[in-house]
Amino acid sequence: GTGKFFVGGNWKCNGTKDSISKLVADLNGAKMENDVDVVVAPPFIYIDQVKNSLTDCIEISAQNCWVGKGGAFTGEISAEQLIDMGCQWVILGHSERRHIIGEDDEFIGKKAAYALSQNLKVIACIGEKLEEREAGKTFDVCFQQMKAFADSITSWENVVIAYEPVWAIGTGKVATPEQAQEVHVAVRDWLKKNVSTEVASSTRIIYGGSVNGGNCSELAKQEDIDGFLVGGASLKGPEFATIVNSVT
Ligand code: G3H
Repeated sequence: GTGKFFVGGNWKCNGTKDSISKLVADLNGAKMENDVDVVVAPPFIYIDQVKNSLTDCIEISAQNCWVGKGGAFTGEISAEQLIDMGCQWVILGHSERRHIIGEDDEFIGKKAAYALSQNLKVIACIGEKLEEREAGKTFDVCFQQMKAFADSITSWENVVIAYEPVWAIGTGKVATPEQAQEVHVAVRDWLKKNVSTEVASSTRIIYGGSVNGGNCSELAKQEDIDGFLVGGASLKGPEFATIVNSVT
C-alpha cells in the first residue's frame, strides 16, 4: 500500500442529534488502530455537534462544498465556512452528487481546486456505472473523471482518490478484491503517465462500495487498496472500527 491506511465514514443524509450522539459515543469508545487516518463525514448541520464531541483522533469531512468563495449562493456551504467549523476534509464528486444531483466533471474539478486553495483536504471520488462496466468502459470513465481533477488540481499532497463503482454503492454488491485492485492499478498508472511518478506512488487510492466488517480484510490485503470510503457500515460504530482495524 501507499502511505498511511485511510478510512472514511460517509454518513450521507442520515442521522438525528440523538443517533449522532450515540454514534460519536461508540466511536469515542472503540479501539482503533493508531496508524490509520480516520475521517467521518456527517451532514453539514451536524458538523459542529460532532466536532465538539468526537475524539480529536478522528478528523471531520464535509460531504460537499460550494465551488468558490461564499456569498450570494442560497443553500450552499463554502470551503471557508467548513474551515471555520474545524472541518479538515471534503468529499467531492461522490456518485450521488454526480448522478442524482447532476454535477459534472468540470464543476467537480473546480470545486476540488477551490477547496484545496482554502486548505481543505479532498476525497476525490470516481467510478463507473454498471452499464459502463458492462460495455467495457470502466477505465475510460475513471480516466476521464481523473483528467477533470488533474486539469484543475496543482498539488496532490492533500488529495485522496476514492474509487467507488456506482453498482457497488449501497447495493450490497461489493467489488471483488481483484476487480478493485485492477482499477486501482490502472488509476495509479494513469497518474504516473499524466501527472508524475511521485504523485502516482504517494497518492492514496481508497475503495468504496458495500464495504463492511465481513469483506474489508480481503480488500485491505490488495497491494493498491490504501483504505476505504464506507457508507452504510459507517453508521455503526463497532463495525466501522472493525473496518478501520482491517489493515492489520
Ligand atoms: O461514500 C461511500 C460510498 O458511497 C459507499 O456507500 O458503503 O453504503 O455502499 P456504501
